[in-house]
Amino acid sequence: MNVGVLGSGDVAKTLAAGFLKHGHAVKVGSRSPAKLADWQAQTQGVTTGTFAEAAAFGELVVLAVKGKAAADALTLAGMKNLAGKTVIDACNPIEDAPPEKGVLRFFTDINMSLMEKLQNQFPAAHFVKAYNSVGAPCMVNHEFKGGKPTMFICGNDAGAKKQVEQINEQFGWETADMGPAEAARAIEPLCMLWCIPGFTHNDWMHAFKLLTK
Ligand SMILES: NC(=O)c1ccc[n+]([C@@H]2O[C@H](COP(=O)([O-])OP(=O)(O)OC[C@H]3O[C@@H](n4cnc5c(N)ncnc54)[C@H](OP(=O)(O)O)[C@@H]3O)[C@@H](O)[C@H]2O)c1
Repeated sequence: MNVGVLGSGDVAKTLAAGFLKHGHAVKVGSRSPAKLADWQAQTQGVTTGTFAEAAAFGELVVLAVKGKAAADALTLAGMKNLAGKTVIDACNPIEDAPPEKGVLRFFTDINMSLMEKLQNQFPAAHFVKAYNSVGAPCMVNHEFKGGKPTMFICGNDAGAKKQVEQINEQFGWETADMGPAEAARAIEPLCMLWCIPGFTHNDWMHAFKLLTK
C-alpha cells in the first residue's frame, strides 16, 4: 500500500519507518521537505515532499502534526487528495502551555474532540483516531511485559477502521474499536493519562491494555 505521512516530527518518522518495515511505500510530507533530508538519507526507501504531495501519494494518509496546526496541514494537503481515504489521526489537542502537576492542558472541550472538528471540516476523508495515546518509541512492534497492548480507535467509517485494525496487527497491537468519531472525546484525553508518569517520574515506556473476561 502507498502511505502518505503528514508530519516531520517523531511520530511521523516512527510510523513512516513502521510502514516501510512492513513493506509499504511511504512518502512523508512537510511544509519544508528539505528538513527531512538527513533522516531520509538514513531511511532506506522513503520519499519526501510537501503535505499535498504526500497526501496525493497515499492510498492511506497518516496525520501526525501539532494538534493546533492539524486543520492547516490538512488544508495544505488538499481536500481532493484526502477524499475517500482513511486518515489515521495521531494528533492530540495539546495547548501551548506547560502541564499542570504533570497533567497536559488541552485546547478542546471534553464534549467536542479535535478529530470530530477535523471530520466536520474535511467530510470526504475517513478519519480514524489511533496512535495518539502512546509515545513514539513504543508505537511500532514494541514488546511489553504485560503482553500485547491495546490501541483504542474510533471513526465513522467501518472500512477505514478495518484497515487500521490490520495495520495495528502489523505494528503489534490489538484493537479496541470504541465506535464513531464522538469517542475521540474519550480517546484523546488518554494521552494526558499516558503522559503523567512521564512528566512526574520520567517513565515514558508503557502502553494501555484493555482486560476482558
Ligand atoms: N511525540 C509523541 O510521542 C506523540 C505520541 C502520540 C501522539 N502525538 C501527537 O502526534 C502529533 C505529532 O507529534 P510530534 O511530536 O511527532 O510532532 P509535533 O512537534 O507535535 O508536530 C510537528 C509537525 O507539526 C507541523 N506543524 C507545526 N505547525 C504547523 C503549522 N502552522 N501548519 C502546518 N503544520 C504545522 C510541522 O510541520 P512542518 O514539517 O511543516 O514543520 C511538523 O510536521 C501531535 O499532535 C502530538 O500531540 C505525539
